[in-house]
Amino acid sequence: MPESITITDNRTGQQVEVPIVNGAVDAKAWAKLMPGTWFFDPSFGATAAAESAITELDGEAGILRYRGYPIEQLAEKSSYLEVAYLLINGELPNAAQFEQWRYDIIHHTFIHENVRKRFLDGFHYDAHPMGMLVSAVAALSTFYPEAKDIEDPANLDRQTVRLISKMPTLAAAAYRFSVGMPFVYPDNSLDFCSNFLSMMWKIAEPRYDANPVLSRALDVLFILHADHEQNCSTTAMRTVGSSHADPYSATAAATAALYGPRHGGANEAVLKMLTEIGTYENVPAFIESVKAGEGRLQGFGHRVYKNFDPRATIIKKTADEVFKVTGKNPLLDIALKLEEVALADDYFISRKLYPNVDFYSGLIYQAMGFPLDMFTVLFAIPRTSGWLAHYKELLSQDARIARPRQTYIGEPVRDYTPLTER
Ligand code: CMC
Repeated sequence: MPESITITDNRTGQQVEVPIVNGAVDAKAWAKLMPGTWFFDPSFGATAAAESAITELDGEAGILRYRGYPIEQLAEKSSYLEVAYLLINGELPNAAQFEQWRYDIIHHTFIHENVRKRFLDGFHYDAHPMGMLVSAVAALSTFYPEAKDIEDPANLDRQTVRLISKMPTLAAAAYRFSVGMPFVYPDNSLDFCSNFLSMMWKIAEPRYDANPVLSRALDVLFILHADHEQNCSTTAMRTVGSSHADPYSATAAATAALYGPRHGGANEAVLKMLTEIGTYENVPAFIESVKAGEGRLQGFGHRVYKNFDPRATIIKKTADEVFKVTGKNPLLDIALKLEEVALADDYFISRKLYPNVDFYSGLIYQAMGFPLDMFTVLFAIPRTSGWLAHYKELLSQDARIARPRQTYIGEPVRDYTPLTER
């Protein structure tokens, strides 16, 4: 069978044979064969915008793999730092490589004092930590101007380590500022997640020892959130990266994309929704209001997963472990009831709407003590490694600048009229 598709232009009768490359119609070839005829696909729903060897996702089968490794195995056996190395370098590290990586990460956790004192401390007292994070990540590019030299692989690797290391420090600094608590410096004797928890919660004790169950639960959540191929924020990362902006500026753009409630902001939206529902008995009425188009069931549905989200399955197990330590989140019963009612309802079944990763992650974060507006920040910390893996891959592919076309639907040409005549 030929690896091509034949398209007839019914306006002219012209037929063109367009090659299929790796299962996708080759749009570059199309553009040459049919110049001026664009595909209209504003949400990229039918467009493969990249060739990528990082994450494999099969939405129908509920498969998610990083560099070939099933997410279930990584969540059970690996750590976030190891996964970050895997995403960026393509292979799991050996013992020496991992030790060097771990050492490099924990020795870049400090932020320049001026990032905090002059920059973060300048925000209004009730600034949302995601707004602070987006700006702080962008500001880092001014502290490391050499980051612009993206052609030098060693330099790019250094910025990659800095970004992965400093995200938890920036995140915790934003939180401490919002509650008026003094900044906690990183403790290099702690592992990645325990250090983050220490920067979040330490008060006057000489050393903050996180509960190992909670620290491990956070590590699992970080593994699950580390990458998800061409989602909205990764697309932002690749689009900005294609202009050869430095990695801090591109990561700031990706963080901004993650902020929205349709993407990383959904876990915050889930908790607000559960709180508004208030009681178990209100669930059926709420489901009816969603069906009547009065809002969405937050934490349900996915552009790609149409069967189940494998991350949601793992998260449910993690939630049980966390609740054994923290006590059950009182909103859990409402969430379980919502899931039960929705999964038995034809509206959700026919649209293939299932719980996604955000349906349960917020319940865990809340039980661990994180305030609502930190939830998306907790998504941004691990997703940074995925964004940077895509940035590095994009540069290695020598991709052209992202520059889609449009179909113009505005006014035809008209003459300017002076202000006095309007
Ligand atoms: N509640 C109720 N109806 C929904 C929902 C929902 N959560 N999601 C989709 N639908 C309906 C939608 O109204 C439409 O119905 P109809 O065909 O009658 O018009 C149909 O399902 C298809 O929806 P869509 O908007 O075309 O789907 P999409 O692929 O563009 O959107 C989504 C995907 C995730 C943005 C959407 O499902 C949604 O808004 N979910 C709630 C927010 C959420 O949980 N987001 C987190 C996504 S996972 C984490 C991440 O990767 O960021």
